[in-house]
This record gives sequence, C-alpha cells and structure tokens, in this order.
Amino acid sequence: MDRLKEKVALITGAGSGIGRAAARLMSAQGALVAVADRDGDAARETARLAEADGGRALPLTVDVVDEDSVAGMVGATVGEFGRLDVLCNHVGGTDPRADLDLLRLDMAEFDRAVALNVRSTLLGSRHAIPHMIRAGGGSIINTASVAGLVGDVVQISYGAVKAAVINLTKSIAVQYGPHRVRCNAVAPGAVVTPALLDNLPRDVVDDLKRTNALPYLGSPEDIGHTMVFLASDESRYLTGQLIVVDGGMTVQSPAAPGRRAMLPPGD
Ligand SMILES: NC(=O)c1ccc[n+]([C@@H]2O[C@H](COP(=O)([O-])OP(=O)(O)OC[C@H]3O[C@@H](n4cnc5c(N)ncnc54)[C@H](O)[C@@H]3O)[C@@H](O)[C@H]2O)c1
Repeated sequence: MDRLKEKVALITGAGSGIGRAAARLMSAQGALVAVADRDGDAARETARLAEADGGRALPLTVDVVDEDSVAGMVGATVGEFGRLDVLCNHVGGTDPRADLDLLRLDMAEFDRAVALNVRSTLLGSRHAIPHMIRAGGGSIINTASVAGLVGDVVQISYGAVKAAVINLTKSIAVQYGPHRVRCNAVAPGAVVTPALLDNLPRDVVDDLKRTNALPYLGSPEDIGHTMVFLASDESRYLTGQLIVVDGGMTVQSPAAPGRRAMLPPGD
C-alpha cells in the first residue's frame, strides 16, 4: 500500500483509460497524484475516484502540445504538493481514419501525430526535470506502443512517432541519469480502452484474442501496474528501457497461430 509513499506523481491523459488506471493505482500506493487531461471534467472524475479510494488528487486541465499549458500544469503540481517525483507522459495516439499508408496519409494528421506524441513527451519532460533535479532525482515514464517496434500496413505516423518516443526515452535517461532522473517507456499492446474500441474494427480485436500468445487483451490496470513499478524505487537501477506489455504479441512468430495445428491433440 505504500510503494509510492510521499511521492508526487503527475500523469497526463489521466481522464480516461490507462492514464486513469495508473493514477488510481499510484494513489492507492500512497502517491499524491496530479491528474491532467484536456477534458477537465474527466480529470476531475479521476481525482474524485482517487480520493474516494482514500488518496489525495489534484485535477488539472492541460493541452499537452501547448508549452505554456504544460508549464502551467507542472507549476500547479509543484505549487500544490511542493515537489515532483514522477511524470507519466501518457497522452498520444493518431486518428486511424487519417493516418493511413504512406501514399494515402493525411499530412496534417502526421504533423498532429508528431505534436501529440513526441512534442508532448519532450515538453512534459523539459518542464518536469528541473524540479526533479531539485528534489534529488525522479522517474519519467513515457507511453510508447508496440507500434513503435514493428512495421504495419496502416497508421504509418503512429509507428514512427512511437519509435521516436522510445529514442527520446533513451536520450533523456542518458542526459539526466547523472542527476538521478530515470526515464523509461512502456509499450502496451492491445489494451481495452475507449481509444482501442474506437480505433480497431471488432473482427481485428477478435482475431488478436484468438491468435496472440495470451488469449486475452490487456486491461488499463495491466499497464498501470507496470507504471507503478517504474515510478517506485523498486526500479531504481532501471533507466532508458522499454517494457513491452503486450500479451506476447511482438515475441510471437507470425506462423505460430497456424503451427498450433501441428501439435498432437491434447492439453
Ligand atoms: N489502448 C491501447 O490499446 C494502447 C496501445 C498502445 C499504446 N497506447 C497509448 O496509450 C496512450 C493513451 O491511450 P488510452 O488507451 O489510455 O487512451 P484514451 O483515449 O482512453 O485516453 C486518452 C486521454 O488523453 C486525453 N487527451 C487527448 N489529447 C490530449 C491533449 N492534447 N492534452 C491533454 N490530454 C489529451 C483524452 O482526453 C483522454 O482522456 C496513448 O499514448 C496511446 O498511444 C494505447
């Protein structure tokens, strides 16, 4: 219950899905949480849930692509709680209706993707790190995706920007390690959130469940637990790393689902 006791954690995109789960789990481990989202009502609801569980939470409205807004978010967190130990740069994604293959990609969507995923991660880290250095160290957790590791037939921008998030994670780890600021990333596979349900056709979701190494999709809490670990001192020697939480999606040979039929009948 106290793996994050007395730590101050700021989570962006905390109004929904994985970000909300991470905020609640961190709060349950004793962290004081600042929950930031573009949707202020959603941030307030996450704060209400965390406080109903017995924690202390500060809801914030932010647009993570706007530097003044990000500076205000970090300033408000430090103003309320006095310090900043953990930052989750969680907001990201692209619109799969506009983020298609190379020739049919909407370039405005590509620019939006760079801002929402890469600029936001860079800005959040830039404004948080001076406070972390002052506090004697900290932990930054970036949300990447398995899409940043493999090629795909659609969402060419999404893969590219998540790969950039993975590299940004390594550079931040190297640049601020001497100040005891750690920086790691989590790469979720398919996680059941509004983003997934809006973006993936039902038959693709069913297919994933049928063919993945583990026969179920992830929950927001599956990713949130990994974030709690990265926020805690249990991971004090871990930096610059990517933790893939995907039910085995990216370790499986594409031939594996078909090859199961080669096994003799039985368990
Ligand atoms: N759900 C999945 O399967 C999955 C898989 C891999 C990676 N991810 C990553 O997880 C992150 C979020 O996914 P989720 O599933 O929790 O999504 P979600 O849609 O449930 O939540 C995203 C939240 O971000 C907020 N937001 C959007 N734009 C914002 C902005 N400019 N400023 C501030 N807040 C903003 C939204 O209001 C929303 O509350 C993204 O980085 C996404 O790429 C998700």
